[in-house]
Amino acid sequence: MIKIYAPASIGNINVGFDTLGVAISPKDGKKLGDCVIVKKNHTFSLTNIGKFAFQLPKNIQENIIWKCWNHFCTIIGKKIPISILLEKNMPIGSGLGSSACSIVATLVAINEFCKKPLNKQQLLKLMGKIEGEISGEIHYDNVAPCYYGGLQLIINENNIISQSIPFFKNWIWIVAWPGIKISTSQARSILPLQYNKKICIEHSKLLAGFIHASYTKQEKLAYTLMKDILAEPYRIPLIQNFTNIKKNILDLGAINFGISGSGPTIFVICENETSANKISIWLSKHYLKNKHGFVHICNVDTKGTRNIGV
Ligand code: HSE
Repeated sequence: MIKIYAPASIGNINVGFDTLGVAISPKDGKKLGDCVIVKKNHTFSLTNIGKFAFQLPKNIQENIIWKCWNHFCTIIGKKIPISILLEKNMPIGSGLGSSACSIVATLVAINEFCKKPLNKQQLLKLMGKIEGEISGEIHYDNVAPCYYGGLQLIINENNIISQSIPFFKNWIWIVAWPGIKISTSQARSILPLQYNKKICIEHSKLLAGFIHASYTKQEKLAYTLMKDILAEPYRIPLIQNFTNIKKNILDLGAINFGISGSGPTIFVICENETSANKISIWLSKHYLKNKHGFVHICNVDTKGTRNIGV
């Protein structure tokens, strides 16, 4: 029996649309990610449990877990008879890499169960492919950090899909999910198909500058360059009161603020616990729409997807 945990992640982190993502873990030790248990069985079976299992499709073949199993079986050329238990702790359509958590946990668990027929690169490629089938386009900025942990830069050239980038260890990451859903494919479909030259140059400057600042430990330069000029301008209408919320959060001492992935989760970066606590209280009062919503104060999760035993 194998039990795997895969953490939540924040895609884009403003400056790297589809090219940067960071894995996160709540500071209080709570789980913000999915768990998958794989056991030997006479046939394939799937059981969904956990807080957000009710959001999953009833038809087993529409379930991401089944898709992962099916792709894996096709690659290795045989149907693997296993039972899979998914603990769905992540809300679907939250912008926290919920589908990535399920995909990564499942593929790592099946691969370990089968004594690792696929290497890390092959697994990550498959994770991106399945993520693409769900969201309409392949993007690795959730699956890569979820799998490897840390801050990942997506390169996707030949066999190099992703590379770890140094991050500022003093940064505190807050995520607030209001309790409502936004479909990633919809949030992608509202983006322009083409961008003009000025935007492309500005974006290159911001992203390259951020990576440079991360390597040269220029913290202020790094967070000053964390601006989203590609997606945020088009996604603001999806998030009620975005501009007002942003102003309040920055006034409370945040050094950066933005949409996590395709939303509606928002993320905030702070440099100290006092502002982080104040902001998390403010978000709990003003951003959550129902009892399902949550706010978590997090660190970067450096471990990524892991075997957590039984
Ligand atoms: N980079 C993707 C997007 C992440 O913004 O559409 C989706 O969570």
